[in-house]
Amino acid sequence: MATLQLKKLTSVWIITILVLFVLAIVFGILMRFNQGNAIHLSPVGFYSMMTIHGLTMIGIWFVAGMAAVNFLLQRYIKVSAGINVFALVLTVIGVVMLWLVTFVGEFHTGWTFLYPLPFRGAWKEWATPLFLLALGVLGIGWFVWSAGMLFQIFRKYRPAQAFAWQHLRKGSPEIETPPFILISTVTLIGIITCLVAAVLLLVLYFAEYFSSGSFVNDALLMKNLTFFFGHTLANEMLYLGLASLYELFPEVSGRPKFKMTWYVALAWNCTMVFILTAFFHHMYMDFVQPFAFQVIGQMASYFASVPAAAVTAFSVLAVVIKNPIRWSLTNTLFFVGVTGWLIGGVGAVIDATISNNFVLHNTLWVPAHFHTYNAIGNVLFSLAFFNWAANEFGGKGHTDKFTRLKMTLLIIGGSGFVIMFYIGGAYSVPRRFNVYPQEFSSLSILASAGALFACLYLAVIVWFLVNTVNKCLKVFSAA
Ligand code: HEM
Repeated sequence: MATLQLKKLTSVWIITILVLFVLAIVFGILMRFNQGNAIHLSPVGFYSMMTIHGLTMIGIWFVAGMAAVNFLLQRYIKVSAGINVFALVLTVIGVVMLWLVTFVGEFHTGWTFLYPLPFRGAWKEWATPLFLLALGVLGIGWFVWSAGMLFQIFRKYRPAQAFAWQHLRKGSPEIETPPFILISTVTLIGIITCLVAAVLLLVLYFAEYFSSGSFVNDALLMKNLTFFFGHTLANEMLYLGLASLYELFPEVSGRPKFKMTWYVALAWNCTMVFILTAFFHHMYMDFVQPFAFQVIGQMASYFASVPAAAVTAFSVLAVVIKNPIRWSLTNTLFFVGVTGWLIGGVGAVIDATISNNFVLHNTLWVPAHFHTYNAIGNVLFSLAFFNWAANEFGGKGHTDKFTRLKMTLLIIGGSGFVIMFYIGGAYSVPRRFNVYPQEFSSLSILASAGALFACLYLAVIVWFLVNTVNKCLKVFSAA
């Protein structure tokens, strides 16, 4: 049973994330209308918006996955409320700092802040150090949070059990590891690893910042560290979402819980390794990088997607095919989310294939695929958890008579929005242009159409926010 304190904390996370999500979508829509020449933002305004949109989206869906895993973990182990509060406070401080840096400080490097861009100073002088400090604040909060959860898992399960290695041997093991524990363990380890890389990155940035020119970083090392940290974190948040799916999907569908099998254990152990090496596909154009790394990037990108995706798709289909299912908003969100994740994954693998990357690199194909597995993939996993949790907190049943309407609008809005990116990508329209170059001006209509579809998506999210916030607030008046 979740304590009232954990319910309250989770409610605060849910409300904060949904409010920030709505604001970040509005920024996204404004950017798309600007690319469609329907409105005119200043270049600084556009790029500041793009930077805060990317940072906010990655940040909120990462903490959404963490808050869900934290909540569900208490079914198996004791979780610390103090660490949860600590992470919440540092996240709020970090987010406020980032919004100040971008909107007041005009910092606009994009969310990847690729070295040496932060030192090129086309913004207020204080913005760069405050930006790095904000990353430090968020990093500390998230490191302590992940390490705290992992520590509690290892207190109950020996490391080999948490990795479910006993399931790789023949016969039935004495202790069964729940899939949720395995997925949470491999994901938390991945998160901790990339946060350690972030510490090194920040140290190197500050070393150069305070050296007054006597110390200059190696650009390739900085790029590797940045992508190892940022790309991996953005990927790991997807696996946090999948952990909730493994725990809740069969339960809310009225089916038996997922069991651990040798292939689930093997798939997730392999995923842990491949996810940490897949980021090399961002370095294909860095020709001085050792050739072996390019090969690793290509192979890991293929292998990272296969085991977890295949096993998850198989497990979800095994639940729904030929079985009577209690469909609700929660499991429909999970189901559609898996579909969006797989479609976006195929788009990502196409781009991660070196011969294709020569054509698709830095075109709209990139935002096309990552918006697919985020906006109509991982986000839906977290929304499914939010909906389930809000119903638990609000004391109402799990039925929602508007499920079909909400899902139809969400699917039309979400897919229309990403399809416009894919078409742009297929025509080689470059990404991150506030106004399209002359050669592509006839394609700006795609951007406005994308923005209109995104408005539909936004409308459903606002509707979802109102319902969910109402239910979550009830937890504060509970005795
Ligand atoms: C319907 C909702 C959304 C809209 C309208 C939207 C719109 C946009 C637009 C127009 C861009 C700039 C594309 C370009 O490179 O030209 C962008 C970039 C981006 N978006 Fe979204 N987006 C949405 C949802 C999301 C979600 C759910 C996520 C992640 C969970 C996300 C993460 C990002 C990131 C990381 C970038 C890259 C920013 C950068 O290049 O610095 N977006 N988005």
